[in-house]
Amino acid sequence: MYVLVIGAACTLTLKNRMGWRKILAVGLLIGVAAVAWEWKSSVNIEEFYKGKRVVLTGASKGIGKSLAIQLSKRGAKLVIAARTVQKLADTQSECLKNTPHVHTVRADVSKEEDCRAIVDKAVEEFGGVDILILNAAYSPNPQWFSDYEKPAEKFSSVLGVNLLQSVQLVHFSLSHLNKSQGIIVPVSSGAGIAAIPKVSAYATSKHALHGYFKALNQEFILTNTPVSITIMPLPYVLTETAVTNWKPIGTGDGITAEDCADRMLHGIPKRQLWYYVDWTLWFMGHVYSLYPEFFDVFTRLHLSRTSYLFS
Ligand SMILES: NC(=O)c1ccc[n+]([C@@H]2O[C@H](COP(=O)([O-])OP(=O)(O)OC[C@H]3O[C@@H](n4cnc5c(N)ncnc54)[C@H](OP(=O)(O)O)[C@@H]3O)[C@@H](O)[C@H]2O)c1
Repeated sequence: MYVLVIGAACTLTLKNRMGWRKILAVGLLIGVAAVAWEWKSSVNIEEFYKGKRVVLTGASKGIGKSLAIQLSKRGAKLVIAARTVQKLADTQSECLKNTPHVHTVRADVSKEEDCRAIVDKAVEEFGGVDILILNAAYSPNPQWFSDYEKPAEKFSSVLGVNLLQSVQLVHFSLSHLNKSQGIIVPVSSGAGIAAIPKVSAYATSKHALHGYFKALNQEFILTNTPVSITIMPLPYVLTETAVTNWKPIGTGDGITAEDCADRMLHGIPKRQLWYYVDWTLWFMGHVYSLYPEFFDVFTRLHLSRTSYLFS
C-alpha cells in the first residue's frame, strides 16, 4: 500500500516536471534495460549443472529430495546427506536412474564430524565441490514461547541444524569452493524475513542465517574470494513438514516441492545474493525492509483471521 502511494506520488511529481511522454520514455528505457539484464544473466540450466559437483543436505525427503532428483537429471555429480538411511537410499536410487555419480552420507548436520564427513566424501569421490546447498532444517511444530518447557534446549537444537550446519559446512568446504569459484546456497524462509509468532526458534535460526551469510558475503567481496552466496527464502512448499506446520497460517495454495526445486535450480546460476523463487517473497522482502512495523501489523491482522494462532 505504502509502496503504491509513494509510487503514485513520485509519478505525479515527475509528471509536473517532465510530462507524461518523458515519463513513458524513461519507463520504457528502464523496462528494456531490465529485460536486457535478465537476458544477459540467463544461463542454459540444462548445460550449467552438467558435471557440477554438488553437496546437498536434507536430501531424504521434501525439497531436498526433489533437488537431488532434478540435479541428477541435469548431469550433476552428487553427495547427498541426511540422517534417515533408508529414505536417503530411496533418493539415491531415484537419482541413479539418471547418473552413476550419486553418493550418500548418513549425517546429522548439527555434528561437526558429520559435516566434515560430507565434504570429505565429495573430495574423495569428485576431487572438490562446486555447489553447496544448505537445505536440511529442523522445523518444530508451532508453539507459543511461553509454553516451552526448556527453551534453551529447543533453541540450541534448532540452531544446531539450521544455522551451525552452514557454519561447519562452509568452514570445511571453503578451500574447495575457492578453487572451483563455487556457489553456496543457504535455503531460507519467509520466517527469516517477517516476524511470525509461534515459531520463535525456527525464525531465530533463519534470521541468524541471513546475518551470517550477509556478513560472509561482505568478507568475500573485501578479500576477493571468488565464491558466490545465494540466499533463497522459500514460500509455502507442499512438503509433509510444511503442510503440518504452515497450512493453518493461510499462506495460500503453496507450490509443489518439484516446482520449487526447479525454480531454485534456475536461480543458482544467477549468482545473486538474494534469489526469490516467487514474487510474494520478493515483495515481502522489499516491503519488510522498508516498513517493518507496517508489515508486523499486517502479519498480526492476517494471522488473527486464520486458525493458526489458536490451533
Ligand atoms: N516447505 C516449506 O514450506 C518451506 C518454506 C520455507 C522454507 N523452507 C526451507 O526449505 C528447506 C527444506 O524444507 P522441507 O519442507 O523440504 O523440509 P523437510 O521435508 O522436513 O526435510 C528436511 C530435511 O532435512 C533433513 N534433516 C533434518 N534434520 C537434520 C539433521 N540434524 N541432520 C541432517 N539432516 C537433517 C531431513 O532428513 P532426516 O530427517 O532424514 O535427517 C530432511 O531430509 C528447509 O531449509 C526449510 O527451512 C521450507
